Amino acid sequence: MAHGHSHGHAHKHAHGHSHDTADIDWADMGDKLERYAKIAAPMYGEVVAWLRRWVPEPGLVADVGAGPGAVAFLLADAFPGARVVAADPEGPLLERAGERAAREGLADRLSAVRVELPDDVGQLPPADLMWLGKSLHHVGDQGAALAALAQRIAPGGAIALLEGGLGARSLPRDIGFGKPGLQSRLEAVDEEWFAGMRASLPGAKDVVEDWPALLGAAGLRHVATRTFLLDLPAPLPREARTHLVDELARRRDMYDELLGADELATIDRLLDPSDPGGLLLRPDAFLLLAQTVHVAVKDGEQG
Ligand SMILES: C[S@@+](CC[C@H](N)C(=O)[O-])C[C@H]1O[C@@H](n2cnc3c(N)ncnc32)[C@H](O)[C@@H]1O
Repeated sequence: MAHGHSHGHAHKHAHGHSHDTADIDWADMGDKLERYAKIAAPMYGEVVAWLRRWVPEPGLVADVGAGPGAVAFLLADAFPGARVVAADPEGPLLERAGERAAREGLADRLSAVRVELPDDVGQLPPADLMWLGKSLHHVGDQGAALAALAQRIAPGGAIALLEGGLGARSLPRDIGFGKPGLQSRLEAVDEEWFAGMRASLPGAKDVVEDWPALLGAAGLRHVATRTFLLDLPAPLPREARTHLVDELARRRDMYDELLGADELATIDRLLDPSDPGGLLLRPDAFLLLAQTVHVAVKDGEQG
């Protein structure tokens, strides 16, 4: 996708990221975010190994905009000495995180807290490692939110911001039916959707998305930026194929008024579970994407 990630949201309207969440199927969204984190675990493993340079043994990790906590659980696993707080505005996703923590015997170390940026930032405990994965872009004033978040980082601690990268590719340019280049055209529609989503956020403020500069303006010291590849070649296991279907179905649903009839027919074939040319059965489906992580530290003695 154009922003190097799946939005993981079930919003139906191309220009309506509203806080009217009545039509969101939370269980479905939780499943999808958990499935993606599982598929992308090798990539997240590389991210965490790299983050250890700045935070070898964090005592407290906060995953802000954690959803069902899929990445928070990976962080808990990677940092067995840490307490992990999964923070998100959405109650059903937090409940899911809490239930999973209990089920996996992690309830003493992983807790779920309701936090909606920017208003509830004070609810966050002072973190040695603050992780924001594809959540900051859901906040109207990203610069102000970062400045507020910087106050919740412990001295000597770090923030890791996952934003941007390269959109996912999963098919050859020519897939044997429809007009070649479908994925590039879908990316252009992603951009339109994303712009509409941002414009509809409360307090929406345009800003140059120069993350190192924004981290600096928040009073932090940017130390590194690196891009991580998720490179799963064909033939894909079932779970990764299911992820591809989820993603394409989500876009078909959101963009049905923005795509032409020919394009929709091609997408429908790709989504058809019994079509040999569909994503579930075709031998050539792969998953290649890149996600960029920016790290900044808060100077001072670690407590
Ligand atoms: C694309 S999902 C990413 C979830 C998770 N970080 C992951 O990588 O699996 C974006 C998350 O941001 C959360 N979010 C949206 N608006 C937010 C806000 N104002 N403050 C904090 N989180 C927010 C959503 O509820 C959702 O869980």
